[in-house]
Amino acid sequence: MNTLGFGLGLRPVHYDAIRQERPRVDWFEAITENYLVPGGAPLRHLESIRRDYPVALHGVSLSIGGTDPLDADYLRDISRLVSRVEPVWVSDHLCWTGVAGHNLHDLLPLPYTEETLRHVAGRVSRVQDVLGRRILLENVSSYVEFTASEMPEWEFLRGVAEAADCELLLDVNNVYVSSVNHGFDPRAYLDALPRHRIRQIHLAGHEHNGNHVVDTHDAPVSAAVWELYRHAVRRFGDVTTMIERDDNIPGLADLVAELDIARAISRQALQAAA
Ligand SMILES: [Fe+2]
Repeated sequence: MNTLGFGLGLRPVHYDAIRQERPRVDWFEAITENYLVPGGAPLRHLESIRRDYPVALHGVSLSIGGTDPLDADYLRDISRLVSRVEPVWVSDHLCWTGVAGHNLHDLLPLPYTEETLRHVAGRVSRVQDVLGRRILLENVSSYVEFTASEMPEWEFLRGVAEAADCELLLDVNNVYVSSVNHGFDPRAYLDALPRHRIRQIHLAGHEHNGNHVVDTHDAPVSAAVWELYRHAVRRFGDVTTMIERDDNIPGLADLVAELDIARAISRQALQAAA
């Protein structure tokens, strides 16, 4: 599978620096919801950056696991955005974000049951039919689990991907965060995922509070997550990777330097595996 290399989450605070400095970033991931208004300033920034860099669209409100009907207007808006910016791919999260028309503005975990698996896979297939392309689903971090769950998260993720024939966006930090919070082996999680479906990797920082970890995206990637990333590259090979930073956002140069750590770890892991 072709790799795009090493990217960053596109954040408005960096728009000007990206155009002026043309940083050593291979691609950018844009938050879909920020660019859905036609003719707005954000879309103009995105189109300008798109002329120089590949762009992926990453959504936060598909609510693929929700029980409300899929939002046809939202899907139509995504389709329009896709035709305008021609992203390399479109992703969202394996979660639900609201119920009965209320958006809870959070990426909430699902009960990992056969029934939920069929429900989610059916919705992924419908989204893929509307968009005319396969989408990527990302594993979310979580702090609670449903007692109704019948299988571990990794089995559910793999089951959805296979039943819906979609691809996966593996967030290595989310695997680490949930592994501490729920007490599982994060490497076993990675080892259970189907190699050919991993299209992209997310890296991010978190806050470690001793007995639990919070997915904050406000700090550099931690040593433990870098080690898990090394394991991911050994297992999945040369996968398109990016760093998400959403709070305490540093200057572009700092993030490019952090991306160089990812490049170095990936190179070492690939050489060791060769
Ligand atoms: Fe992520």
